[in-house]
Amino acid sequence: MDFGKLKVGINAAKSNLTSEFDLQDSIDDYTKTLSLFKDIGDYYTINISCPNTQDGEPFVIKENLDALLIAVNAHRVAGRPIYVKLAADLSNDEINTIVDACIEHQMDGVVLTNLAKPSHNKEFIEAELPYHKGAMSGLPLQRISTNVIRHVYRRSRGKLTIIGVGGIFTAKDAYEKITSGASLLHMISTLIFDGPQSINEINRGLVKLLKADGFSSIEEAIGSRNPLPKLTPENPVATKQDAA
Ligand SMILES: Cc1cc2nc3c(=O)[nH]c(=O)nc-3n(C[C@H](O)[C@H](O)[C@H](O)COP(=O)(O)O)c2cc1C
Repeated sequence: MDFGKLKVGINAAKSNLTSEFDLQDSIDDYTKTLSLFKDIGDYYTINISCPNTQDGEPFVIKENLDALLIAVNAHRVAGRPIYVKLAADLSNDEINTIVDACIEHQMDGVVLTNLAKPSHNKEFIEAELPYHKGAMSGLPLQRISTNVIRHVYRRSRGKLTIIGVGGIFTAKDAYEKITSGASLLHMISTLIFDGPQSINEINRGLVKLLKADGFSSIEEAIGSRNPLPKLTPENPVATKQDAA
C-alpha cells in the first residue's frame, strides 16, 4: 500500500483476550500484528506501555522483554525500523532495563512516552480525573515525558533513535523535546484540539528557534541542552547523574 510522502507507523500492543498474563499468548499478539502488516507502513512500534491492558506492564520484566524482542526480531521486515514505546511512569531502574534490552536486541529506537497513569501522578487527579479513570495526555504529560527523554538520551548515548511525544503544542515544546534528545516527534492531543495546521506553525517556529541558537539543521540541535556525562571505568554505561 502506498501512502505517498506520508510516513505510516504500525503500533502493536497486546490484547486483553486472556484474563491472566500468558507470555506466549502475549508475544503472539505482537507477532500476529507484525505479520498482518508486513507489507504496510514505514516503521513498527512495539507498544509495551498501553494503560488499558488488564494485566499491567509485563514487558517491563527483563526475561519477558527479552523473549518478546527475540520474537519481534524474527518478524523483522528489512529496511523497516522497529521502536519500543515506553510508559511515562517507570522508575529509572525499569527504564534502564528496557533501554539496555532495546540496545542488546538491536531495536532502532524508542517512543517516549505513552500516557501518564493517574496512580503515579496524583497532583492532577482531583482536578482533571475526578473518577480516577483513564490516563493523561497533553500538558500534564509534557514535563514527565521530557524527563524520560532526557534520561534515555543519556543512558543510550546515541544508540537508539528517540521519538518524543507528550504535550507538544508549540514550536517551543517541540524544540525542548529535540534539545533533550529526540530526533523525531509525535503529536496526538494537539491534532485533536488544534488540528493539522499546528504542524506548519510548529515547523515555522522551529526554523526560528534553530536559527536563534546558531543551528542549521534539526540534527545539530538534538540533545544540545542535555550534554552526555563522561563515562567512568567504574560505571561504563552511565554515571550516577544518569541514574538520578
Ligand atoms: C485518545 C487517545 C488514544 C490513544 N491510543 C493509543 C494507542 O492505541 N497506542 C499508543 O501507543 N498510544 C496511544 N495513545 C497515546 C499517544 O500515542 C501519546 O503517547 C500520548 O497521547 C501523548 O501524546 P500527546 O500529549 O501528544 O497526546 C493514545 C492517546 C489518546 C489521547
